[in-house]
Amino acid sequence: MKTKKSRLPQPNLYLVGFMGTGKSTHGRALARRLGYRFFDSDQEIEKSQKRPIKTIFAEEGEPYFRKLEQTFIEEGHPPEGCVVSCGGGLVAREGMPEVLQRKGVVIALVASPECILARTSQNPDRPLLQVPDPDQKIRDLLAEREPYYRQAGILVLTDHRRMKEIQNHILRIYRRKQKEWR
Ligand code: S3P
Repeated sequence: MKTKKSRLPQPNLYLVGFMGTGKSTHGRALARRLGYRFFDSDQEIEKSQKRPIKTIFAEEGEPYFRKLEQTFIEEGHPPEGCVVSCGGGLVAREGMPEVLQRKGVVIALVASPECILARTSQNPDRPLLQVPDPDQKIRDLLAEREPYYRQAGILVLTDHRRMKEIQNHILRIYRRKQKEWR
């Protein structure tokens, strides 16, 4: 008698972490390897608003942007089979780590302030870092947000590691969690 092979569940994989930790780059590659769809919360918001994040910040203010992020997480993407790269501030609010954990497997990418500064300094698109002292801003925001990142998911370090090694590490965690997924 033929037995039907049961398919493993495909919980979404959420990548959280500070700006410049590589969420989008790794997310895109991981989606390819898993055969999942890829969503980047910032890009989805830019598409729906038809303007860049920095314009949304300038024209509507940060709280408005945060509401858009929340709406994207609540209803802007399919409930399974996706890799989602979350904007750096998305999970850093009361209750958000728990919201993401209910929806899927959450992995927090971590980098040192030095690496973050080096990775973000060439890019003028992040409104929160367009300040006279971005180094200090990164340190302040990191201190404020670290508890949320820690609470949200398993931490994966990204400093001085090869892309492939980071992605393999994330996949190992995901596969393990996938087997335990209710
Ligand atoms: C932000 C991070 C950005 C973007 C916005 C605000 C933050 O996303 O959502 O500029 O508050 O950390 P990335 O983490 O993808 O750069």
